[in-house]
Amino acid sequence: MKRRGFLIGLGALAAGGWLLRPDNRGAAHDSYFQAINDTLKDSGPGRPLMLVDQKRLAANCRTLMTTLPAGKAFRIVAKSLPSVPLIQEVMAQTGSQRVMVFHQPFMNALADAIPGCDMLLGKPMPIQAARQFYQELGASHEFDPVWQLQWLVDSLPRLEQYLSLARELDRPMRINVEIDVGLHRGGLSDPQQLDALLDLIHAHPDHLSFSGFMGYDAHVGKLPGFIESAADGHRKTEARYQAFIQRLYRQAPQYQTQSLCFNGAGSPTIALYDDSSVVNELSAGSCLVKAGDFDLPALADFQPAVFIAAPVIKAMDGLTLPGPVPLGEAWQRWDPNRQRTYFIYGGYWKARPESPAGIQANGIYGSSSNQMMYNGSADTGLGVDDQVFFRPNQSEFVLLQFGDLAVWNDQHISGWWPVLAQGQGA
Ligand SMILES: Cc1ncc(COP(=O)(O)O)c(C=O)c1O
Repeated sequence: MKRRGFLIGLGALAAGGWLLRPDNRGAAHDSYFQAINDTLKDSGPGRPLMLVDQKRLAANCRTLMTTLPAGKAFRIVAKSLPSVPLIQEVMAQTGSQRVMVFHQPFMNALADAIPGCDMLLGKPMPIQAARQFYQELGASHEFDPVWQLQWLVDSLPRLEQYLSLARELDRPMRINVEIDVGLHRGGLSDPQQLDALLDLIHAHPDHLSFSGFMGYDAHVGKLPGFIESAADGHRKTEARYQAFIQRLYRQAPQYQTQSLCFNGAGSPTIALYDDSSVVNELSAGSCLVKAGDFDLPALADFQPAVFIAAPVIKAMDGLTLPGPVPLGEAWQRWDPNRQRTYFIYGGYWKARPESPAGIQANGIYGSSSNQMMYNGSADTGLGVDDQVFFRPNQSEFVLLQFGDLAVWNDQHISGWWPVLAQGQGA
């Protein structure tokens, strides 16, 4: 009796467990990805590549420009769009010539390729990088750093370094001061610290001039709402920014009539700014290509515009894992999303699978940058030479990993955009 009860219990458990099996989440590519799949299968280079959808990029630029408050300028965050033609496309779509740059080789590349641009540094450059910039730029260049470049300075010792380089090279430098509006990533934390920087700048008018502030607010909206809402965080940011501007105007009233650059924001917070903000220009880059980490409610109107496409090298029914135990066999019976096995060309990127639906990595088999295993249900239906599509988590690093960007333009690849080079030996 006892034994029968035990067997019945076991059977019920097994039946219950079977009912808890994961649903089949797999589906074939939709028509958008199928068109790219077929194009790449027929005429692609047969390797993983990064694709930029030019139409979606243009739509994102329009979305951005319609959200931009009246009277505020837009500055393009170059690191998040690391390709000269990509930045030029954004310039054409938005009418902005302003770029925020974070890497010395990118500074020189942009000065060479877009000599009319207006450049603000997004982080303070080590003095050796500043020296390298001038060395590579040469003495006569269409891009004139005296008017078109603002170095970012976060402290008095760094300003002293820049002054000595400006004197040594006899090149005047415009100085934008990094202020801490709550992110606590450095910069001036107290408006009174400004006085010493202004004194040094004003004592050397031939070599230094003050051009404005940069206060980045990436912390806003990151806290749980019950601790601090995005709106409250933004109000505090504005108040901190305002305190620096007040101190500036009190110490040096002449600036009230000059046009200075008060830069702020980034993709996640740009929607919080309105025309009453104390900043006069807003930065953004990532929202225009919308990598996966930017799937935020505030950016709901922007569309993903970059995808990795990776060819399937091997496609198999079932799941077979190495070792004496038929674990893969049992697993694919239990989970329909493990019924097909694909080995793709490359892998292990900072990216999530996007299409076909239900594709997932295999944590037990492990990751590979060479040929990574993915599983999906029978409905994913990929064969050899089909493509798996991924969305990069962020754009600034992942876009640089694939060589030229393939430009997807309404059913065909209309061109290739080189990415920015990381730099050569000094
Ligand atoms: C100073 C600064 N401004 C703005 C941004 C925003 O860039 P994105 O819009 O690409 O997130 C960043 C990103 O790191 C930044 O460091």
